[in-house]
Amino acid sequence: MSAILAIYASPRGAASHSERVGRMVVERLLRRSPDANLIIRRVGVEPPPHIDAAYAAAMETPEAHHAAADRQALTRSEEMIAELEATDRLVIATPMHNFTVPSTLKAWIDHVVRARRSFALTPRGKEGLLADRPTYVVVSAGGVVSGDGPRQPDFVTPYLQHVLSVLGIRDVRFHILESLVRGPEAVHAAERRARAWLDLQLPEE
Ligand SMILES: Cc1cc2nc3c(=O)[nH]c(=O)nc-3n(C[C@H](O)[C@H](O)[C@H](O)COP(=O)(O)O)c2cc1C
Repeated sequence: MSAILAIYASPRGAASHSERVGRMVVERLLRRSPDANLIIRRVGVEPPPHIDAAYAAAMETPEAHHAAADRQALTRSEEMIAELEATDRLVIATPMHNFTVPSTLKAWIDHVVRARRSFALTPRGKEGLLADRPTYVVVSAGGVVSGDGPRQPDFVTPYLQHVLSVLGIRDVRFHILESLVRGPEAVHAAERRARAWLDLQLPEE
């Protein structure tokens, strides 16, 4: 059975622009696979804990040498990676916070991107151990991040692209909602562009 994992990183819950478009992606995926199992993780509202010393020590120790304390420290990471492994569609909806991902999404990343478990250290560099799968990333920004005029740097999309590729996830389709602080007109315009992107990615059948 197919399964969808949706990671919503806004702290604003139902009011979130990124989550609203993320839910549109999920709705279209569900229309194609009505029996798919849907798992939603609102990391922006219920954040995973930051990693601690016990986690850092366990992560650096090869599994064959793990003590009970190491296994305990990795329990949550293990659950989150297993959740990712069990899904064949991934949706990430996140606001831009200070030019990059919110710390809550970064905490999720720190649990799932784990050496010798979700990626291998090889002479050629880091190689992903997870299956590739279609991944839809929706980013919302209050300001401008594209175009020829004055704009701010976007560290969200290149960072997510890289970190997902380290896991082995390369089929990633990004969409950025921008200028959202400019009022309802700007929000409507961004939503219209998001629907056009959705029509290209997941046309209504
Ligand atoms: C802590 C914080 C930092 C932010 N930093 C940026 C930023 O660097 N660039 C930007 O364009 N918008 C920034 N914003 C605005 C949000 O990206 C914007 O309001 C976005 O639409 C929120 O998405 P959401 O509705 O999904 O939470 C920031 C907002 C917060 C709360």
